[in-house]
Order: sequence, then C-alpha cells, then structure tokens
Amino acid sequence: MSDVEPSARWNARGFSTRAVHAGSDPDPATGAVVTPIYQTSTYKQDGVGGLRTGLGVGYEYSRSANPTRTGLEECLAALESPAGAPAAAFAFASGLAAEDTLLRSVLAPGDHLVLGDDAYGGSYRLIARVAGPWGVAHDAVPMADPDAVRAAVRPGATRVVWVETPTNPLLGVADIAALAEIAHAAGALLVVDNTFATPYLQTPLALGADVVVHSTTKYCGGHSDVVGGALVVAAGAAVPRLDGVGALGASVAERVGFHQNAMGAVAGPFDAWLVQRGLKTLSLRMDRHCDNAERVVAFLLDHPRVASVLYPGLPDHPGHQVAARQMRRFGGMVSFRLAGGLEDALTVCKRTEVFTLAESLGGVESLIEHPGRMTHASVAGSALEVPDDLVRLSVGIEDATDLLVDLEQALA
Ligand SMILES: Cc1ncc(COP(=O)(O)O)c(C=O)c1O
Repeated sequence: MSDVEPSARWNARGFSTRAVHAGSDPDPATGAVVTPIYQTSTYKQDGVGGLRTGLGVGYEYSRSANPTRTGLEECLAALESPAGAPAAAFAFASGLAAEDTLLRSVLAPGDHLVLGDDAYGGSYRLIARVAGPWGVAHDAVPMADPDAVRAAVRPGATRVVWVETPTNPLLGVADIAALAEIAHAAGALLVVDNTFATPYLQTPLALGADVVVHSTTKYCGGHSDVVGGALVVAAGAAVPRLDGVGALGASVAERVGFHQNAMGAVAGPFDAWLVQRGLKTLSLRMDRHCDNAERVVAFLLDHPRVASVLYPGLPDHPGHQVAARQMRRFGGMVSFRLAGGLEDALTVCKRTEVFTLAESLGGVESLIEHPGRMTHASVAGSALEVPDDLVRLSVGIEDATDLLVDLEQALA
C-alpha cells in the first residue's frame, strides 16, 4: 500500500499533471524518468529485521510491497483524492480480486449489503455466490432511487452500500452524495465502482464515498493489454461497528492493507507498470472517448432500427441532472435497444467491422457486445437480468466517421 501521503507535492496540481507525475518520481538509483519494472520477488536487507534504507524506502517481499506497484498506487491515490484529504490506494490482480479483498476486509458473516439492480455481472456473482454462502446477505435495488435504497438498508446489519454509476450495462446514474448520506445514517460504508467514469470524469470520494473500486483493466489501463484492479480508500474511512470484525482496528485503509498482503491478490510489477502508463494519458483518451460517444449517440438516435439509446449525456436520460452535477462529461459507454428485438441485436453484433465483438471495455479500440449473452450471462434469472434486445458499445478513440459508417452498415 502507499502508506505515505501519495506524491503529496503533486496534489495541488491539475488532473493531467497528477496523472503524469504522481508516483512517477525519477528512479532514485538511476534517474530513470519512467518507474522501472521491478521484476523481483525479494530484496536484500541491511541486517536481520532491517530493511534496505539507502534509497529512503524499505521493501522486503513483493507480495507485501513492490516499488512499481507503489508508483501505481500513489498515482491512483493522487487522482481519486479529494483536495486536502489524501486517500490510500491498493492495486490488485483484477477488479474482482480488489472487490473480494474489500468485501472480506469490511464484512463478516451475518452482515448485509445493498447493491444496485444493474451492476456488472461478475460483481453480482461475487456478492451472491461467494460472499453469500460465506454468510453475507444482500438486496438488489434501483440505486437511482434514493428512497428504495433508504428502504433497503437495515440499520445495525447493513455494512456496505455498493453502487456503480454509470451502471454496466444500462448506463443508469446514481446520486453519490445522496447515497453517502443514506449509507452513513445507517452505519454503512458507501462503495462506488468508478470503472466506467474514471477519476477524470468523477471523483466519488469528494462526494462522500468511503471506497472507490476500479477494474483498471478498463479505462485506467486503456489499451486492452492488462487485467487489474484497485481500491482507493478515503482518509479516515472507518468500519462503523467493530463487533464481529476481528482483532484489526476500524480503519478501512489499514484493514484493506492487511488483507491485501494476507490474501495476496496483488498486481504484479509488469501489470502495475502497464496500468500506470495508461493513467498518464487518461485525460486525453477520456476526452476523445466522450467526443466519439457523443457522435455515436447522435447517429443512433436518428436511426429507425434503434428503439432507444441509453447515455447519461442525453437531456431526457432520467439521471441526466445528477450526472451533469457529479461528472465532468458523460463517458465513452453507450447502450442501445433494437426495435427488432434479440435477433436484430445479435445481427448487429455480428456485422460490425471496426467495432470488435468482444467482452471488456475502456480500451482505445471500439468494442461491441450483447450483454445478455456475454458479460451479463451470469445474472440471467436474477433481479439484474438485462433486456435481450440490448447492445453495449465501448466507443474507442478511432476516427468518429469510421465508427458511424461501421454502425450504419451493421444496422442496414
Ligand atoms: C464495472 C465493472 N466492475 C468490475 C469489473 C471486474 O473487473 P475485472 O474484470 O478486472 O476483474 C468489471 C469487469 O468488466 C466491470 O465492468
């Protein structure tokens, strides 16, 4: 974990400056401008029980900490931290590894969790089918409706309210500040999966969330060449009730740090390096993703075979006002429903040439998928089941005209 103030001297700078420099100080040994890939499992120690101190930092074993991973963690913390309240970041081998570590850090058997009824299928599977048998109950409710969340929390039992915004794949929007109030009033933590928005478009910790979750596989890495995950914990976040959480203290950051090492699902040095390289261009890529998504949305809205377009940037999207308040722009993910139902949805997915038919999202290349049969197959039959006429696009950074021509021929 990055237990020091994350690259504190960069914190007052703008987003892009932090993305390039935080956690990327020139290597103290060689002056290398880019943090090297410290592909080592262990470190020479200065003496028995004495870490190597010559470089001003001490490492003993790369599951516990590794300098390349530290660089990524400092960068993520600098990007998600609210002004003046440095957060702590932790990098994992995948988004689900991060989520699993968080669940086991702050929950115990007998606890209750509230999650959205539109969420990434793998997160739902982890909560329902791994945490469930361990003894954690859950309810899935529409997160866009704060009253539904208020009604679902069980004061004294609900420890976590878990929200994605925008959601995967229906692009719903939840009011982070309102949910933070509801969660805190019930003695629960608010966890926000910020994978779709990224810290460039939205900073949940500044709106009152306690923990941010990332699949860094997506926009943070940005090039579809790495699987990774991260947790960013707000300064001062604490597990509200200590009974049943074991001998550790209440600090969420300390609990996550302990579990990261104890469970061991860490990001390897090369993967951490790839994600940090991705973060350096996050603002440029996100602006281009948003530009292209806006062009695609305008095209789809006018197309006779398209029944509806789901995008938080549309003024008639039910979450538009909230999204406009809490997001810088509306992102690169676009979903749409086909007037011709399932068959048309499958045909469009088959026919695109620039949009590649593939799971995942957030890379420079445009992807198309059918959530019902692909990313969200694991929620079939549950409250999270998605419509079968739905197609999800991850709009890449190619030339917008090529994307529109491709969609035109696929819909023809
Ligand atoms: C919103 C969201 N959260 C979490 C995950 C899980 O991340 P990973 O696939 O890196 O384990 C995904 C993966 O698609 C996702 O879309």
